[in-house]
Amino acid sequence: MTQNELKEAVGRAALQYVPDDCIVGVGTGSTANYFIDALGTMKGRIKGAVSSSEASVKRLMGLGIEVFDLNTIDKLPVYVDGADEINHQLQMIKGGGAALTREKIVSAVAEQFICIADESKYVTVLGKFPVPVEVIPMARSYVAREIVKLGGHPAYREGVITDNGNVILDVHGWQVTEATKLETELNQIVGVVTNGLFARRRADVLLLGTADGVKTYK
Ligand code: 5RP
Repeated sequence: MTQNELKEAVGRAALQYVPDDCIVGVGTGSTANYFIDALGTMKGRIKGAVSSSEASVKRLMGLGIEVFDLNTIDKLPVYVDGADEINHQLQMIKGGGAALTREKIVSAVAEQFICIADESKYVTVLGKFPVPVEVIPMARSYVAREIVKLGGHPAYREGVITDNGNVILDVHGWQVTEATKLETELNQIVGVVTNGLFARRRADVLLLGTADGVKTYK
C-alpha cells in the first residue's frame, strides 16, 4: 500500500469514533483531509464540526458540513487529527502544517483525541521531526536565543504566517525523552504562543496505518 492509501485507511477507520448527532473536532493536514472526506459520507448523521485551521474549514464547507465556532460549543466528544511523530506513550509532535495552536486548543476541549497516522510516524523517541514553535513575530529572535539555551537549534520557517498571524520556529536537534517537561519549558518563554509537543494532552487512541491493516493503540 502507498503512504496515501494508509492515510486514507486510517481516515476512514476514525469514523467509528464519531457518535451520531455530535459536533466533531477536526484536525489539519493530508491525513486529516482523508478523515474530512470520509466524514462527508456520514454528514447527515452529525451536527457539524469544529476546525483547527482555515484550510480544514474550507474543505469541510466544500462538503456541506457545517462549521461551528468553538466558543459556541460546550461539549466535543472527539477530536481527530494526524501527527508528524507519535511515540509509544501516544505523545506527539505536531505543527508541520503550522496549525499547532488551534489544534492544541480544539484537542484540549475534546473528550477523546484520536490520532490517525501512517506507520512512518510511529517512533520510539520524538525529535527527528523538528519541534514547531509558534511565536509572536516581534519575539522571534529572543525566543530563538532562549531555545538555544535549552539545547535546540531553531530555524525560522520562512514565508509562513499562521492562521493567527504569527511565525514558526522549527527546532532541530532534540531527542525528546521528557516531552511533558520540554513542552512546559517552551511555554514559559515569553513570546511563545504554543509549541508542537502534545504531551500534556496526548492522544487517547492511535489508529496506525500499516501494511497489515489499521492497528489500534490505547
Ligand atoms: C498540522 C499537523 C498535522 O497533523 C501534521 O503535520 C501531519 O500532517 P500530515 O497528515 O499531512 O502528515 O500537525 O499542523
